[in-house]
Amino acid sequence: MPDKITTRTLQQMKAQGQRIVALTAYDFPSAQLADAAGVDVILVGDSVGNTMLGYETTLPVSVETILHHLQAVRRGTRRALLVADMPFLSYGVSVEDAVYNAGALMQAGAEAVKVEGASPRVLDAIRAMVGIGIPVMAHLGLTPQSIHQFGGYRLQGRTASEQEALLEAAQAVQETGAFSVVLEVIPASLARRITEQLRIPTIGIGAGVHCDGEIQVWHDILGLSEQTYKHTRRYAELRAAITDALRQYADEVRQRQFPTPAQSFEVDK
Ligand code: KIV
Repeated sequence: MPDKITTRTLQQMKAQGQRIVALTAYDFPSAQLADAAGVDVILVGDSVGNTMLGYETTLPVSVETILHHLQAVRRGTRRALLVADMPFLSYGVSVEDAVYNAGALMQAGAEAVKVEGASPRVLDAIRAMVGIGIPVMAHLGLTPQSIHQFGGYRLQGRTASEQEALLEAAQAVQETGAFSVVLEVIPASLARRITEQLRIPTIGIGAGVHCDGEIQVWHDILGLSEQTYKHTRRYAELRAAITDALRQYADEVRQRQFPTPAQSFEVDK
């Protein structure tokens, strides 16, 4: 396993055909576990709004919320490249806001930031951030901050014209200076075309096997989410395991089976 992962490492991994493994983390223990497991990129995603805070969408997440979780994840991350999501309204309103908010995330320990979309405003923000030394990961396809514009969590790039637009968007973020791009819920064949045409690594989620890497959400792959999704695989069933453990704890307390003398203290007479 190579040493500290940097944005340069990811470029080299693409060049060498080595797959990039990315995962979200939101707190100190999840960061420690992901890092120890050899995950290459840890993202403090604005999915924290759904997974940790119980919101329906990512829209209520603020820069302060990301900062709070980022600081904990920073303390648990050694090897992985640490990327912080820029939440809704933190980069699309003005270039000055984007640079200032990205700077705050970098000062809190992020090594790169991620933004959604490729509108002219977002491209200006990417250019400005890259211009002062902030690495930017782009995010295209089913970008959750635009969920109300899409009218739901639906496959993007369904028609030939939508596919061309996504290909152009991917080229635009690359030319603007993004060091990698997340492709979310788009046809696998389109993700393959984009991956073949870009110099920068593509990181898929619901985008098939031909991307340069894969990103998943902590709660989804560990079976902590209530729902199951087509784009994910549950590598554990922690929701069920935790519920069983908590029920057993509650039963044993009620039946005076816990604590026993082994977990109790006494003083010598
Ligand atoms: O916030 C997030 O978790 C993300 C990933 C799904 C890419 O943006």
